[in-house]
Amino acid sequence: MILIDGKQTAADIKKEIAAEVEEMKANGGKTPHLAAVLVGHDGGSETYVAFKIKDCAEVGFKSSLIRYEDDVTEAELLAKVEELNNDADVDGFIVQLPLPDHISEQKIIEAIAPEKDVDGFHPVNVGRMVIGLPSFVSATPDGIVELLQRYNIETSGKNCVVVGRSNIVGRPMSILMSQKAMNATVTVAHSRTKDLNELCASADILIAALGFPEFIKGDMVKEGAVVIDVGTTRVESDQTKSGWKLKGDVLFDEVAPKCAAITPVPGGVGPMTRVSLLKNTLLAAKKEIYK
Ligand code: GUN
Repeated sequence: MILIDGKQTAADIKKEIAAEVEEMKANGGKTPHLAAVLVGHDGGSETYVAFKIKDCAEVGFKSSLIRYEDDVTEAELLAKVEELNNDADVDGFIVQLPLPDHISEQKIIEAIAPEKDVDGFHPVNVGRMVIGLPSFVSATPDGIVELLQRYNIETSGKNCVVVGRSNIVGRPMSILMSQKAMNATVTVAHSRTKDLNELCASADILIAALGFPEFIKGDMVKEGAVVIDVGTTRVESDQTKSGWKLKGDVLFDEVAPKCAAITPVPGGVGPMTRVSLLKNTLLAAKKEIYK
């Protein structure tokens, strides 16, 4: 069984990005600049955004953090998005989700200029990805494709089951796996899928992105399958200082012995997601998607 080391792979890619940024700067080029907008004080969002800022510093990017309290209006947020769209120094930016209920996330996403949408959430980027045009691809699916490729995992002609159909992971993941670069035969499973256990057990590549801790048990996985665990649910724990522990969607101890390869949680998909945002920001700075 191969333990797919997302932490190490992400560290390798970060080194590659840092070297490229250094070269860009040495040639008189611009320092890539990522801006992040954070609303409120949700613990998860605070942590994710802090990591994004730290990652930028590590590869030599400039970053800006723009904070608002929970009571910011939709109009104020839209005005900030417009300002960032027009700020020539900002190459790409993200608005961390979720947003408070009184703000339409979709409206905010659609206000972001597609050429600065390094999250790849804007319908223009999603649409371009679907038809195989250059686009910013949502970070988690992009990170998974990169992991599969760097571990030389054969995907062509394989049966791939994606469990979950979210806009930011399951759905784009299923499309990427079916495209010519990956050539898998893909089934998307969701809460209404019948005979889910049998379907999962038929997968050569199983991608679990449903957000339900330890849902995928040993008897749901075929001998020799490749299992990618996208889950990152915080569960209470008395074994950690923080009082919580990250759990994946896969019951690792039961599933891992049956696998040809598997990603752990933590240290699998998570670090790759972070690095894909850096990749997209570099692409934005180099104007490689929208020339
Ligand atoms: N909330 C959870 N994941 C993400 C992400 O990748 N981007 C943004 N903007 N918000 C998130």
